[in-house]
Amino acid sequence: MNLAETTRALVAPGKGILAADESTSTIKRRFDAIGVENTEDNRRAYRELLFRTPGIGKYISGVILYDETIRQKAADGTPLVKLLTDQGVLPGIKADLGAKPLALSKGETVTEGLDGLRERFAEYRGMGAVFSKWRAVITIEGDDIPSLYAIRVNAHALARYAALSQEAGIVPIVEPEVLMDGAHSIERCNEVTIRTLRTVFNQLAAQHVRFDGMLLKPNMVLSGKDAKDRAPAPDVARYTVDAFRDSVPAAVPGIVFLSGGQSDDEATVNLDAINRYAATVGAPWQLTFSYGRGLQAAPQKAWSGKKENVTAAQRAFAHRSRLTAAARMGEYSPEMEKESVPA
Ligand code: 13P
Repeated sequence: MNLAETTRALVAPGKGILAADESTSTIKRRFDAIGVENTEDNRRAYRELLFRTPGIGKYISGVILYDETIRQKAADGTPLVKLLTDQGVLPGIKADLGAKPLALSKGETVTEGLDGLRERFAEYRGMGAVFSKWRAVITIEGDDIPSLYAIRVNAHALARYAALSQEAGIVPIVEPEVLMDGAHSIERCNEVTIRTLRTVFNQLAAQHVRFDGMLLKPNMVLSGKDAKDRAPAPDVARYTVDAFRDSVPAAVPGIVFLSGGQSDDEATVNLDAINRYAATVGAPWQLTFSYGRGLQAAPQKAWSGKKENVTAAQRAFAHRSRLTAAARMGEYSPEMEKESVPA
């Protein structure tokens, strides 16, 4: 498959992406919450459970892996990557090395990992990765943060990453995440999101990135997590789709949202509202999911590190995937929360 074909497969109707690329320190936070020790074997067992979930290829087009995971084997010796490809799911890789303090800034960050990236992509490609992801983090705090400085350096790095990824024949997923932490209004999130996306697409164009061979992974335009009177789903949908119409080229085949700390049902309801609104205004892109927490909260809780819970956890994962895939088509209804999925 070439870049454009892989991109289209990732955003095929009725499907979206599972972000299972938590770094070792991030997965520790998730495991701490369910009382599971953060060992290499537990991380392997957990990801194996997800990837072996029966029928998951119906709703999940691709899975983003962490460097450790793309090298791991299942308990029976099968490479974890093969578990995915056997289900018709495309393997992807987290390419960045995390957000680090930005020099001479007021506590903002820049994402690192460009040095040696060409060589790492060659290795990942050999291990089967056909797409990749790079996450930049943009914080909202008071009137001065984010600074133009932080937006610019992160946009520049995102474009350098995306160009290297396309050069290696790997579809880049460009992720400039405006965090929902804080008590800011939806209007403030809207303003920061538009400024960030315009800067990012400016850099992508300047650095020769092909829009038809990439995906954008943005935040939804939301009220801050601690805001009073948080905006409801129809407002989220309108602000979000209108922000993209102001800043994202129509040639980009798809927009794959992060869940970003929304609860799983909130992330589903908002994705559904976004797709319903997008249909009324004729938005040009596929609008789907690339959720981490939005898909994994339920299976993590059901599993809680116990072998005897594997089937229940797989059921929970399949159920959440099915509902999120319905929302991606604007076909979700809250009654579906009660339906069960045979494992
Ligand atoms: P969340 O959906 O949990 O935000 O994770 C998606 C992701 O890949 C963040 O980089």
